[in-house]
Amino acid sequence: MKLTLRTYGDAILRQKATPVTSVDDRVRTLAQDMLETMHAEEGVGLAAQQVGALDALCVVDIPTASDADPAGQPLNPGLEMPLILINPVIRGVSEETESWEEGCLSFPEIRAPVERPKEIEVQFSGLDGLPVVRRVRGLAARCIQHELDHLNAVLICDRMSPVKRIALSGRLKRLRRETEHRLNESHA
Ligand code: NI
Repeated sequence: MKLTLRTYGDAILRQKATPVTSVDDRVRTLAQDMLETMHAEEGVGLAAQQVGALDALCVVDIPTASDADPAGQPLNPGLEMPLILINPVIRGVSEETESWEEGCLSFPEIRAPVERPKEIEVQFSGLDGLPVVRRVRGLAARCIQHELDHLNAVLICDRMSPVKRIALSGRLKRLRRETEHRLNESHA
C-alpha cells in the first residue's frame, strides 16, 4: 500500500527513530509499503519518519546503472537492491569526502550539494533479523547516509552549506508553511 509522504514542516521529521526490537508482521508490512511508496515517488531512498513511523528502518534502491564506476564496473558487488535496513548504524567512514547534489522526497523540488564521506561501513539487519556489516561506496553510500540522517532527525537543510541554505530560505519557509497549513486542515 502506498503511504502518504510527510514533508518538511511535519514535526515527525524532527523526531528520532526508536530501535526495532522484533521483526514482526507490522514491520514487514511497513518495509513493503515503504518500498512501494518510494518506487511510486521515484525516489532512491526512504526513511520511516517520511511515512509517519518512528521505527529505525529505511529502504534504498539504487538503479544498477548508477552503481558503477566510469568503466562500468559495479561499485558494490554483492549488495542486492532493494535494501531494507533495520536498526542501521554507520561504524566507519572514509576520510575522503565528496560533494554531490541531493534531493529528498520530503523536500519536493529542492536540491542542494551535500558533502559526505565517499565510503562507509554500515551495520544493519534485514527482514530475517540477522545483523550484517557491509562496506558501501558511491551513490549507495550517499543514499544510506542520507536515510540514516532521517532516522536521527537530521534533514537535508541541516547538511547544505550556509550559503545554499540562505539562497533556499524562501522556498524552505514556503514548504514549511504549506505543510503546516495542510496538517491544520486535516486536523480541523
Ligand atoms: Ni530524504
